[in-house]
Amino acid sequence: MRPMLVATMGVLAFAGGCGGSDDDDAAAAQAALVAQGKQIFRFETFGDEAKWTDTLRMHEVIAAAVDPTTALSVGLKVDVDALPQAVKDGIANHTISLTDPATTVALLKLDAVVGLKGTVQTVAGVDQLQRVGTTCALCHSTVDNSFAPGIGHRLDGWPNRDLNPGAIIALSPAVDAAEKARLNAWGAGRYDPRHNIDGLSKPVVIPPAYGLAGVQRITATGDGSEIAYWNRYVAVTQMGGLGTFSDARLPLTVTNGSEDRVSDKLPALQAYQLSLAAPAAPAGSFDATAATRGKAVFDGKGGCAACHSGMAFTDASNAVLHPVADSVVEPETPSYAARSATKMYRTSPLRGLWQHAPYFHDGSAATLADVVAVYNTKRSLGLSAQEAADLVQYLKSL
Ligand code: HEC
Ligand code: HEC
Repeated sequence: MRPMLVATMGVLAFAGGCGGSDDDDAAAAQAALVAQGKQIFRFETFGDEAKWTDTLRMHEVIAAAVDPTTALSVGLKVDVDALPQAVKDGIANHTISLTDPATTVALLKLDAVVGLKGTVQTVAGVDQLQRVGTTCALCHSTVDNSFAPGIGHRLDGWPNRDLNPGAIIALSPAVDAAEKARLNAWGAGRYDPRHNIDGLSKPVVIPPAYGLAGVQRITATGDGSEIAYWNRYVAVTQMGGLGTFSDARLPLTVTNGSEDRVSDKLPALQAYQLSLAAPAAPAGSFDATAATRGKAVFDGKGGCAACHSGMAFTDASNAVLHPVADSVVEPETPSYAARSATKMYRTSPLRGLWQHAPYFHDGSAATLADVVAVYNTKRSLGLSAQEAADLVQYLKSL
């Protein structure tokens, strides 16, 4: 990472000296920041090997028992672009075993397992996994399955709803039986980023990290006005990266280690996420005529636009948050919001909805039809079957 950073800066300094316009310089600097953020998002552990290796001993678990088939079954993804042709051929013609943990170690050595970073050393001709850590891509990237299920090109920002973080952490020998049971109950695509802090166990769905430009409140509860707030929270308190997170509203202060490997990465990391647009609905995935009628329901009888307003379909773009009662899936006791810094909910941005079922912070609506049914009942909207169906087509088009 560091040599590359230095190289990037060198190129920039050189370009700056060549008399380009200020706009060109600014655009080049922004592009360099985004490129740097992409590397951080995909490959940076912030030194969290301290947690995943020294404490959880996941390197031992992986080397002993996690063959690629097992890894894919808990939702881990493989980046086909990191695989040499010989490895792709070997997987295709079955000369490379997907039921041997040594293959997982080989994939880690290639930096091919999305969101996991392994340090592999070859001792007497045998690859040994010495350290393992996690990156943001673990939860917020998936692949397009172009090569095989779970193996394809990276899709950064797309939440990995196949990933089962609870089941993965529960593989650790450092976790006791009662905790394993709690973690195993979370399920695929869900994670509780407050469990290790307040002891409660009520996971939320892993959200997209795309489509956030202009959204002034980050997370389901709008805890941060900037992405960087939450990135610091996750990097330090969840991933176990080296650095400090502190928020007087929670109140919470966590410090890992004696150095800070988080702070200087946050501007680039944020710039990268802000560059990720929500993916457009695939052609033919919705009925355009019905969607046009559905927009009228959204803006009119449904009353949706009162909160889902503006380019990103959220009043969080104006820094607005809502009391718990404004979430149609509450009340739960305690609410997820009650565990947050704001105790409020953010109106969810709606771009790219087609891509990331299930819906609501708790994933309680399996489909967009379920979402509309919940609103229709809870808010007594009186939508006819036709209006509800049209509204669903509109939501699919966003
Ligand atoms: C173990 C899985 C996991 C990892 C690793 C992880 N996140 Fe998240 N992330 C989540 C969950 C779950 C939430 C939802 C929290 C909430 O809304 O309260 C979230 C929320 C977010 C959000 C807010 C999205 C929104 O709609 O406002 C952003 C941005 C984000 N994460 C980026 C990152 C970055 C950058 C990293 C690496 C530093 C990271 N995450 C690491 C699970 C993860
Ligand atoms: C009073 C403000 C308000 C109104 C009106 C409103 N919503 Fe929401 N919406 C929210 C809030 C807050 C959330 C987050 C709830 C949660 O997850 O607990 C949300 C979440 C959603 C989600 C889930 C998005 C995701 O990524 O999981 C969808 C879809 C949605 N609303 C659609 C609609 C539709 C359709 C209507 C009109 C029938 C509507 N909303 C009306 C505030 C509102």
